[in-house]
This record gives sequence, C-alpha cells and structure tokens, in this order.
Amino acid sequence: MNSAIAENGEPSADVTSDKGENSIVLTLPDLEESLPEVLSVFKTHHIKLIHVESRKCKSQEGSYDVMIESVAPGNGLQSALEQLGQRKVHMKVLPKNPVPWFPRKIRELDVTAAQVLSAGTELEADHPGFTDQTYRERRKVFADIANAYKHGQAIPRVSYTPDEIKTWTTIYTELTKLYPSHACREFNEVFPLLVEHCGYRPDNIPQLQDISDFLKERTGFQLRPVAGLLSARDFLAGLAFRVFHSTQYIRHGSKPMYTPEPDVCHELLGHVPLFADPSFAHFSHEIGLASLGAPDDYIKKLATLYWFTVEFGVCRQGGQRKAYGAGLLSSFGELQYCMTDKPDVRPFEPATAALVEYPITTFQPIYFEADSFTDAKDKMRSFAATIPRPFSVRYNPYTSSIDVIDSKDDIANFARDIRGEICLLEDSLQKVN
Ligand SMILES: [Fe+2]
Repeated sequence: MNSAIAENGEPSADVTSDKGENSIVLTLPDLEESLPEVLSVFKTHHIKLIHVESRKCKSQEGSYDVMIESVAPGNGLQSALEQLGQRKVHMKVLPKNPVPWFPRKIRELDVTAAQVLSAGTELEADHPGFTDQTYRERRKVFADIANAYKHGQAIPRVSYTPDEIKTWTTIYTELTKLYPSHACREFNEVFPLLVEHCGYRPDNIPQLQDISDFLKERTGFQLRPVAGLLSARDFLAGLAFRVFHSTQYIRHGSKPMYTPEPDVCHELLGHVPLFADPSFAHFSHEIGLASLGAPDDYIKKLATLYWFTVEFGVCRQGGQRKAYGAGLLSSFGELQYCMTDKPDVRPFEPATAALVEYPITTFQPIYFEADSFTDAKDKMRSFAATIPRPFSVRYNPYTSSIDVIDSKDDIANFARDIRGEICLLEDSLQKVN
C-alpha cells in the first residue's frame, strides 16, 4: 500500500493530481537557511505554494520535516525535485490519492472508538434533558464507562435507576405490540431468544455484555460501548470486524417516544435482534469491509446505504412490507408510518440509493425495499467492487484482523487458505450424495 511513495530524491512520474496539486515532505537540517533555499527552487520553477508546515523530525534529531503542498505547471515539479535531489535533500513525495488509514487489528478499534465527534455529554439546547442536571450527570457516567473501555474487557454492568427502567418499560411495551405484524420474519425469530438469554423484559434493561456474548455465539458479532457519535468511517470500520458500537445510556424520561440521538433502546430493540441473524450479519459485515480505505466520497455513499438499510430498511415477505431497519424497529410512530402508502418505497439498488439525500429529524419520505438480506448483500458486494481502492480486503476470523490483498503473494496465500475450504465442500457433497 506504500508503493506509490517515492523517497530520497527519486521523483516519481505520478506525483500530481489532475489539478496539478502535489504534496511533498522534505527533511531539512534547519529552517533558517535550508527552507529559503528550497522555496527559491520552487519559485524558480514557477511553482505556486498552497500550504507549508514544519515540525521536528522524529527520525533525525535536530532536523525538521517540512510538508509543502503546491501547484506546479507542466513538468515544473519534476524539474524542481531533480534540482533538490542533486543537492542531496531528503524528500518524500506523497501519493496523489493516499489511502486513508484504517484499523487492521480488532484492538485498533480502541483508537477509532476514542475519536467521538461529540462526547455524549454535550446536549443541544432542544434536547429533552438539556436543563436536567441529574440526567446530564448520568450521561457523564456512561461516557466515562465508554471512554475507559478497551478491547477484550468485559463491558461494565450498569444498575439502571427506577426512572430509567420506567422509560424502557414504556418503549418496550408499546413496540413489542407491533413487532409480530410489522417486523421482518428474522427479527421475530430472534426476539424470543433475547428474552430467554439476555434478559429482554418490560421491567429490565438488558446488559450490553450479556447481549455481546449472545451475538458472539450466533454470528460472531459483538458490542463495544461508545461514548458518543463516531464518524461514518470509524463506525463502519467496526462492522468490518463484526463489532457494533453501542450506546449504553437511555433517552430522557420526559419524552419516552422521542430521542434526538441513538440510545440503549434504539440499539437493543432496533439493532441487536438482527445482528443475531446470520444473513443480516453478513450483509452488515460487507458494508464494513467495503468502507476500509475507501475514498471520502464513497464513505458518504456507504453511510447513505447503511442509513437506507440497517437503519431504515424495509423488505418484502409473504407479499407484505416488513421493517428490518433499527430506526423503524425502535420508533413506535415511524414503524406504523412506514407501512402506509404515504412514503415513496423503491427497490433497493445501491448505485441509486447511495445518491439519495435524506432527512434525519423527520420520518423518511423514501424507503428502499430489499427482496432478502442475501439479495441485498450480493448487491452490496457488487457495489463495493466499484469502490476505487488498489487492494482487496478480507476478514481473518482466526486473528480478528483484516488481510489486505494487494500482491501476487497475497493472492497465493488467499488461494491456499480457501483450498482447504473447497476440499471440505467436495467432501461434504460426496457424503450427502
Ligand atoms: Fe442506529
């Protein structure tokens, strides 16, 4: 993945973007004399500077790394680099389309989970709990749990207060009335198991660790607590490891049927049941894998597809529309609304769905209907193949890590690994026949 980086004054022919922009890092012994010399070379070749930034060099004590972003006419950059190379200036040309960093090991989710966009404690002025100091302090307790959490630890169990349980009771009681008629078949098959194994009851808010253990046995998915909102890139990366980032706090009790953000009701009632379904788990995993190292514009498309499927997806079963999106299955009002003829319901096609804008504070005007999770997964896989990235990825369940496939050796290793699976398949077929 680093093959596009040229080092030590070896100018690469492929260093500029379509607009002639480029980024170079030079290592200089000082800033006072060397930097003006370098800049004069750039000036000589009519290179327009966009951004210059310096910092102390970590690998050469006393030296400085200087990053220069510029726009060069014609082969001006090439000429400037050759001139600097003759002066033995150490330089590194950054690739024009650098691959964004992504976690390769499950433990590296500790890094991304810490990068919350909001801390989970900063409430907007129109949040139902904005003026409730007790609620705000409670939110801090949950944020502290999530911030202290590291991969491999047990998720701390929480003693929910009577008021919190009362809020859960209201939501649980109303939603479970609708599930038999409104939720998809897979959801209704799993729900009794959550009652049996994870403490799903009207008078009990289940614990994340119990659910995580249950999911791990069913589909290999697991939960990890998160303090607040993650970026789409970081959230989707978790799915690539079959990890779902879950909030643990509950919405404000004054409005049990409304929450401006995901809360434990949304996660446990909306998301969790289907992560226990193998086909849906595969589908979610595909979205996560597709996101790793994807360019920003494709992350936006994948986040939109996540929205129209995992959050607000509907499917057709037995000739009827059924809900499988967590945003629907955790909303008493929208779960009923999505079954009416008011919204515009379209067949799920990732290439078109990925471009559709959507509101986040009102009922959805458009839903996308999948034939099945398997069909949706196959379509997602086809869409993922259109993402421009110079490698493929696959999840290695033995090491809980991502294998990057970008060389002939990687492909040979991949083929060797699946050879055993194919032998097993042949053996199974013979025995069954
Ligand atoms: Fe959600």
